[in-house]
Amino acid sequence: MRNAILVLLKGCGAMLARSRLVYASQIFANHVPHHCSKSTAVNNEVNTQTSVSSSSDDYDSCLPFSKIPEPRGLPWFGRWLEYKLDYSKVHRRDLILKKLQAEYGDIVKETIAGRHIVHLFHPDYIKQVYDSEGKYPMVPPILESVEMYRRSNDLTPGLGNSNGEVWYKLRAAVQYILLRPKKAMDFLPGQNKVAADFMNRLDGLIAENGEVPDLNRWIARWGLESAANNCFDIRMNYFETKEGLELSNRIINANSDVFDLATKLYFSLPIYRIFQTPSLKKLFDQEDFINEEACKNLDTALERYTKAVEDGTLAEDRFLFLTHMLQSEHVSDKDLRTIILSILTDTLSTTSQILLNNLYNLANNQKEQEKAADEARSLLTSSGELTSAAFNSSIYLRACIKESFRLHPVGLDILRLSPCNLAIGGYQVPEGTYLCLNNYVHSLDPAIIPKAESYIPERWLRDSDWDKINPYLLTPFSLGTRMCVGRRFAEQELLLMLAKILTSYRLEWHYGKMHQRFRMLLIPDQEVKVKFIRRDG
Ligand code: HEM
Ligand SMILES: *[C@@H]1O[C@H](CO)[C@@H](O)[C@H](O)[C@H]1NC(C)=O
Repeated sequence: MRNAILVLLKGCGAMLARSRLVYASQIFANHVPHHCSKSTAVNNEVNTQTSVSSSSDDYDSCLPFSKIPEPRGLPWFGRWLEYKLDYSKVHRRDLILKKLQAEYGDIVKETIAGRHIVHLFHPDYIKQVYDSEGKYPMVPPILESVEMYRRSNDLTPGLGNSNGEVWYKLRAAVQYILLRPKKAMDFLPGQNKVAADFMNRLDGLIAENGEVPDLNRWIARWGLESAANNCFDIRMNYFETKEGLELSNRIINANSDVFDLATKLYFSLPIYRIFQTPSLKKLFDQEDFINEEACKNLDTALERYTKAVEDGTLAEDRFLFLTHMLQSEHVSDKDLRTIILSILTDTLSTTSQILLNNLYNLANNQKEQEKAADEARSLLTSSGELTSAAFNSSIYLRACIKESFRLHPVGLDILRLSPCNLAIGGYQVPEGTYLCLNNYVHSLDPAIIPKAESYIPERWLRDSDWDKINPYLLTPFSLGTRMCVGRRFAEQELLLMLAKILTSYRLEWHYGKMHQRFRMLLIPDQEVKVKFIRRDG
């Protein structure tokens, strides 16, 4: 989704000729095209988990869109002024959503400066949207201002910003290598090397009090290094050399600014769509910088790749991503630039933040941490590597990651444009409505998740005592054909880093509760001051 971030400038670098064709459409062979019926419906018992039923002629008998409950506000402006006057409400959007659900129920409309958002809180309603999706789930761009940047620079929109046939072809090519377990596992050796180097570095960063000053940034640097290695098969020394530190700082800051500014624009009057406001200009400048940087890297990688091909020295395990993408007929040169570069920065707002959240939760829960550390020790080889077999065999650490996603997710919602007229909760939701599939509130509701505030990884273990949890309640990577394409990379890197950190250190937390700050996605609202204590012997 954060592929929204990186795009290429026009005319950077020459592309290579493609050698072979890959019939990527095969990947979707199992997918049955689905036509959205204009009349799916559920009845209106919002408080039960199992009350969904469909009938064929309900849409017309449902209450009209205008009747969907919503907080009072001026026509068109809606809640714009409220956010404008108190921007902290944007930062704690989780609280706003919780309040909306508590006051108005499981389907709520929110208007912000001309944008009508329909929030769906109930997992059954969310399921209904997924079930009605056809071959091409429709999404609005997550960062609209970034999409504007791309349009105004004649760039391709990238995966998360396209829909329909264009999206489908690109998606098939990308997911062939990113989502197939066997292919994604081929990247594990490279991810292991980056992680090992980072662990060596980490040791020297620990201050006398056991904390790592600026941990958030160091983890971001690790994420960036690993991503560059995944894309380009190159080491950038983002956490090693003076130049690397400076460069990674600039990229991390630019990415951070882009998200802050995009959030600001999302909640402001849409003047920026007509004039280039100072915020939009700043966002475009930061995009320019990231793009130039990424462009340079790709060009260097392509040169090295070409040389290896020409010299006949291209080993099978090198340039995995580039090799595949260059062979893919559906990926244009411009597409390749957008995709490969998105993968470079997506991690900054996702995997890196999620690793921090996991460290925080483990540091706060000693008993669970010890169980996780026991498993971690059994997963790594004597030289500290995570193999694909060990990755597959992990159970408890995966449950920890899942539980951390529940308490501290990457995002509050998943966005959709409704694929057809849907009857949801007794209301008409017309085709093209801007939907937020919002399971965050329910996944913290004690009526639905027992001991909702507590970190209990056990609830995700098979054969656990916990009641069966609705499968649509916690879907951090989303579901269906539009599911996060970086999911496997993210899972591999997370498990790997957690296993390595827990094997070497015991973690403690000596501060108050950590919250997250909303900037389209969520990030820790503070320095994650985990205390690292070496487990020697
Ligand atoms: C903990 C890490 C991550 C989480 C929880 C996460 C979550 C998500 C979610 C919820 C979506 C929206 C799916 C939908 O609309 O149904 C998404 C889309 C996407 N993610 Fe991730 N993501 C993560 C990491 C990454 C990474 C590391 C990459 C890059 C390698 C990435 C690349 C993408 C792309 C390109 C899309 C758009 C897919 C499409 O529209 O077809 N994500 N992600
Ligand atoms: C790990 O699991 C995947 C399927 O999820 C499988 O394709 C792969 O072969 C497994 N790897 C090992 C080494 O067991």
